[in-house]
Formats: sequence, C-alpha cells, structure tokens
Amino acid sequence: MLVLTIAIGADHAGLPLKTQLQQALAAEGHALIDCGTNDADSVDYPDFAHSVAQAVEAGQARFGVLVCGTGIGISIAANRHAGIRAAVLHNTTEARLTRAHNDANIACFGARTVGVEVALEALSVFLATEFEGGRHARRLGKLSPPV
Ligand code: RB5
Repeated sequence: MLVLTIAIGADHAGLPLKTQLQQALAAEGHALIDCGTNDADSVDYPDFAHSVAQAVEAGQARFGVLVCGTGIGISIAANRHAGIRAAVLHNTTEARLTRAHNDANIACFGARTVGVEVALEALSVFLATEFEGGRHARRLGKLSPPV
C-alpha cells in the first residue's frame, strides 16, 4: 500500500472522529502531520482548516483530513486557499468521484453526521483513487476566476 504524508486537523466537535481516523491512518503506516486540536476546549474551526490547507499547499502533505461538527464549516475555510479542493464526504461514492473528477486534496468529515466506519471507508477510497485528468483537468482550470 502507498504510504502518504497526511495533514490532519479538527475543532473540538471533530476531535473524537479525528482521533479515530488518526489511529487508523497511523496503523496503516501513513505519516501524519497533526495540526490539532487535541483537547476538548472550544476552538474555532477555521484555524485548523488553515493549518491543514497550508501544509497541503506547501507540499508538506500530499493530502489533508479535516473534521468539524458537520464537515461544512471546515471545508469552506479550507477552500479559501487557492491550491485546495476540499470535499465533505458521507460515503465511498463521493470519496471516489471527488478524487477522480475534482482532484480533491482534502477530505472533510462531520463528526456529528457520519459514523466512524463510514468515515474510515470513505477515507480509504479517497486516498486510493487517482485523478482521471482529461476533461476534468480542463474543468479544474476553470475553478478560479482570473485575477
Ligand atoms: C462547532 O460547534 C460547530 O459549529 C463546528 O464544528 C462546525 O460544525 C461548523 O461548521
């Protein structure tokens, strides 16, 4: 299996699921950059989204994983970064298609909306699926408006 460097982060709501995903990724041999949070104190999800997004944008990590209550806020924050395509995942179909078609580089989960088994399976498919390129690459080129 391919060993990857993965940046992972969560807010307080996402911490329980982040911990479970972290343990599973480490057990599979992946190298992790832990961007926090690591305790139950209330924190602001954009801070962790930006840390993970910066690690991916800088090439320090191949992929990112972000968890908040719904996965939505943290994905919105991550997607403010030019080089980031963050997708909220609820199943393996979304995981496969967002890699194949969107070349997504951050997988986001809602700890209040998906169970750990579903998240683990979706993450595994996400990490294993290649971008298809071709017409999808042309469309990615149109994601950012001209500056
Ligand atoms: C925190 O309570 C919650 O708002 C946050 O985790 C997330 O769901 C925001 O999108």
